[in-house]
Amino acid sequence: MSCPTRRKFVQQAAALSALAALPLASRAHALFNTASGTTLRAAGLGKGLLVGCAVQIARLRDTPDYTALIKQQASILVAEHEFKFAPLRPTPTTFFFDDADYLVHFAEANHMKLRGHNFVWHRALPAWFAGYITPQNAEQLLVHHIETVAGRYKGKIHSWDVVNEAIQISDNQPNGMRNSPWYKALPNYIDIAFRTARRADPNALLTYNDYGIEAEDPQSAAKRAAVLALVKGMQSRGVPIDAVGIQSHIAAGPNHTYGAGLRGFMAELSRLNLQLLLTEMDVNDRDLPPGIPARDAAVAQLYASYLQTTLNNPSVIALLTWGITDRYTWLDHEDSRADGLPERCLPFDAGLKPTPAFSAELNALHHAPARWKGHEIMT
Ligand code: XIL
Repeated sequence: MSCPTRRKFVQQAAALSALAALPLASRAHALFNTASGTTLRAAGLGKGLLVGCAVQIARLRDTPDYTALIKQQASILVAEHEFKFAPLRPTPTTFFFDDADYLVHFAEANHMKLRGHNFVWHRALPAWFAGYITPQNAEQLLVHHIETVAGRYKGKIHSWDVVNEAIQISDNQPNGMRNSPWYKALPNYIDIAFRTARRADPNALLTYNDYGIEAEDPQSAAKRAAVLALVKGMQSRGVPIDAVGIQSHIAAGPNHTYGAGLRGFMAELSRLNLQLLLTEMDVNDRDLPPGIPARDAAVAQLYASYLQTTLNNPSVIALLTWGITDRYTWLDHEDSRADGLPERCLPFDAGLKPTPAFSAELNALHHAPARWKGHEIMT
């Protein structure tokens, strides 16, 4: 009798080594010759981990050095904007797919996995949304959106962030729910969204994604508890959820600590048979003094310790940073330094040179336990 676990292992090992071989070819260009001569992609695949970043599709189209770096370093991508509701929905009755299609083709052509981010979020809603949604039409709007988008990309998406950032405890709603436009019109939107996504693309990993659940402070602990209660409730109602995305927008400096709370949260999610993804990692350096060497060292130190804590959990199947280069980081626009200096938060600097954070990420991948436990990450 054949052993499915063993068979899966062999299939995965073959798929992984085929993927891991690809960056060697691009290394011939020696565009970004890293000190160790190893890429994040190859280091991750060697451990059964997908590694990559959020991308800006306009840059992929027109910025060759950026595109080459992504091809070299990533085995999984996610769009920073173009799969969100607003860019996909110019009007209540139409869809705009050109940019999302471009990324689907790019990922396929470069043997990369692709995440879908996201179906439901309180932000990135189009201007028409507020005046259009009502309790009467909300379910139809949500279901039609998910069926259309998930259906178009069926079989091509590794994991969908079905719902993003649904918990906001300070909104004082039952169960810590955020009082978002979707929630106001359709309080059980989460169950509906996940059930619809499962029907529309049965093989994608359906993910709940959130931030503010990483640190040791009481607010983060309360939010972790609310997320745990949310996913347990979904499971008890038979709502299909496969994974939790821990965004991992973290910050360096003495006021920010990460450790036991996050470890325990992740262990609990693993016990619930959920896979885990680190979906949007970056390290904000806004609380650090301006000098670059000390800033880089502190950021790299946090990459090292955070990734040691998180990758040690074998349920983690993917690690994505929110961008790959400081040249294009969202933090400079939304959560910037008071002194106006550019953030140094990602594995490559604005000139696309690897930073100490790159070495820390690479080293963490090299030291991570190998994942050969039947997680369906490459199939
Ligand atoms: C951010 C983008 O990076 C910004 O450019 C945009 O203005 C706002 O959204 N959590 C998420 C991401 O889930 O979608 C956000 O992306 C960053 C925080």
